[in-house]
Amino acid sequence: MKKITAFVGSARKQHTHHAVLQLFTNLQALGAIECEIVALSDYDLGTCRGCKLCFDKGEALCPLKDDRDALLAKIMASDGVVFASPNYSFQVSAIMKIFLDRLGFVFHRPRFFGKTYTSIVVQGIYRGDQIVKYLDFVGYALGFNTVKGSCIRSLEPMTEKQKLKTDKILANQSKRFYYRLMKPAFPVPSLMDLMMFRMSRTSIRLMLQGNPDHTYYKEKGWFESEFYYPVHLGVFKKTAGRVFDSIAAIVVRRR
Ligand SMILES: Cc1cc2nc3c(=O)[nH]c(=O)nc-3n(C[C@H](O)[C@H](O)[C@H](O)COP(=O)(O)O)c2cc1C
Repeated sequence: MKKITAFVGSARKQHTHHAVLQLFTNLQALGAIECEIVALSDYDLGTCRGCKLCFDKGEALCPLKDDRDALLAKIMASDGVVFASPNYSFQVSAIMKIFLDRLGFVFHRPRFFGKTYTSIVVQGIYRGDQIVKYLDFVGYALGFNTVKGSCIRSLEPMTEKQKLKTDKILANQSKRFYYRLMKPAFPVPSLMDLMMFRMSRTSIRLMLQGNPDHTYYKEKGWFESEFYYPVHLGVFKKTAGRVFDSIAAIVVRRR
């Protein structure tokens, strides 16, 4: 059975919570799925102090002693993940942003490959679409297989038309999420994904010796591999991969 965990960035159990519950109900109608809601406000998360020890020396040296690792473990134990946030002042809520900052080092050392991800943004009126784009990029940069998120409206009083629209949006998102979840977990990368990986890994190899990113990439075997995970590349992508490595090496040497 697949396990889905939703991380919710609202301190109250209202619209964002209900949207996640609806997504879960839809998913469970599609197949056998275990679901968990993690209300971020129930966890102790410190505000990042910006010391960058996680980047420069390793995340174990972070001076904040909070629930970061417990939340990371919840992601690692899931096949699918949802990040859901209300729109607060045209951005994710503060608690969601604090959570994302606590995962900051994972953008440098991605690890959620093979897991399906999507986002939900709930708003009164305006600009939630931009937040969905932001959260979807966050999912991509953390290593997830990202399914395009949704923005829904909670403006009271809710009309029947609005309710139907929300149901439709969440039903559609549930299907897309479910089908991605059931597909092979480790897809062949797009040319863009391949370029991002090869340019990053070559830059890290040449520039960051002694840095935890370098150690992490080395331990994962990423300086020799085709991609983050074992995958069969065709001749075109194999060649393109080598070209991306060479371009990154030239850029590093010219700097
Ligand atoms: C501090 C605050 C800021 C908000 N800013 C916006 C905003 O910029 N745009 C918007 O459309 N809605 C905004 N809203 C409305 C919320 O997105 C909306 O009420 C949402 O349903 C809250 O999620 P919840 O019901 O899960 O608590 C704001 C609400 C609060 C409390």
